Amino acid sequence: MSLDAGMMPFGRYAHIVGWGKAIPDRVVTNDELAQIVDTSDEWIRTRTGIRQRHIAVDPNETTATLGAKAARAALDTANLPSSKVDMIICATSSPEHTFPATACIIQDLIGATNAGAFDLSAACSGFVYGLGMAKGLIASGQADNVLVIGAETLSRIVDWSDRNTCVLFGDGAGAVVVQASAVPGGILSTEMGCDGSGADVLILPAGGSKMPATLETVASGQHFVKMNGRAVFRFATRVMTDATRKVLDRAGLRVEDVDLVIPHQANERIIASSMRQLGLSEDKVFMNLQYYGNTSTASIPIALTEAIEQDRIKPHDKIVMVGFGAGLTWAGAAIEWGVPTERETSFWQTSQRTAAYNLARARSQLLRISRRLESSLVSEDGASLAERMSKRFGGRRLEEDAPPAEAEQEILEERSGEEEA
Ligand code: ACO
Repeated sequence: MSLDAGMMPFGRYAHIVGWGKAIPDRVVTNDELAQIVDTSDEWIRTRTGIRQRHIAVDPNETTATLGAKAARAALDTANLPSSKVDMIICATSSPEHTFPATACIIQDLIGATNAGAFDLSAACSGFVYGLGMAKGLIASGQADNVLVIGAETLSRIVDWSDRNTCVLFGDGAGAVVVQASAVPGGILSTEMGCDGSGADVLILPAGGSKMPATLETVASGQHFVKMNGRAVFRFATRVMTDATRKVLDRAGLRVEDVDLVIPHQANERIIASSMRQLGLSEDKVFMNLQYYGNTSTASIPIALTEAIEQDRIKPHDKIVMVGFGAGLTWAGAAIEWGVPTERETSFWQTSQRTAAYNLARARSQLLRISRRLESSLVSEDGASLAERMSKRFGGRRLEEDAPPAEAEQEILEERSGEEEA
């Protein structure tokens, strides 16, 4: 599936105007991992390029809190209040729950009161799929501001006794604000692909409807990531090259026009091999996997944010983002960067935003309390206590003929019995 530059109606272009990341504090080095599984710093570095990863050790730090932190940073750089966001797309492979969507929890945390929100499940390709969705929403006039987030706490679904997988992954989140603009450029073209025949190559087998959680699934470790590393490796080098060529072609660009490739940060050897096949030199490829490991959907937005922090991107640069993941999926996007990357935020703007987030928190608490109160006063069929009493007493208006106190007590007892059941 693809959306090309030529498909932009009414001169609406989709530009990335905000970016940000959130990384847990705790660093876990390869040497530390060598103390818990049969591996070594040398093996991990030479096979993957990874030197360390960040892990969310605080149970209160979750996929949603990391996603919300990255989203706030992206809104800050975009200088956009959360109330202006129309849609939140959270790409994640480690959602907080099967439902509700992690995006909904983020919506509440940032007080994006006018936004729709949904999770996007395309594994590590998810963030670039999200860019494709954002571009489509903007091009069709359905949204002006879309938050695309990649957020993960993969450490919680990795088997820490399996050296084949636990050395690869890390936690973190990255986010961008994609905004409608009349200025040509922005997301020029996308490619979103899938080969479901490889669904079992990288999988979290249990916990879904096919294999619901049982004592047995837990005991046999079916709630952890399982991977055929060699099969993923072969698939990845092929699709990274193909997807890059496709998006460049659709955008009317040549490989020589590319200023920077931001690939999914899974393995240095996968990146080097696919970029070599494209004829792209090392200085045109951004890599930070040595510090974070594979953060799945978060890897590309974290890398984008760091590329900007390191002055690797300037207006009119041609950028390619390309990734692959479980599914098996792949995705690419060709982008003409449209906005200055140096941002200054005044003290006034920062205070305003902090106040808005505090207000969002208070609003959320109030809504929770009122929902609790409401549910204690309203029955399952939606009738309030007053309505039920009115029904019970033949539709007479309560103020005309109030029921005796015993009858009121009876109804309340009946209700509490229903709730306990
Ligand atoms: N330390 C030491 N030895 C190890 C480790 C480890 N951490 N892991 C595996 N080995 C062993 C294997 O058991 C194997 O031993 P054997 O030959 O006795 O069986 C040996 O090392 C070599 O294994 P290979 O699979 O050949 O190693 P390879 O060079 O392919 O590297 C790796 C393995 C790093 C997993 C590589 O295949 C890879 O990166 N694949 C892609 C994985 C990936 O990117 N996954 C994420 C996808 S994105 C997403 O959707 C989440």
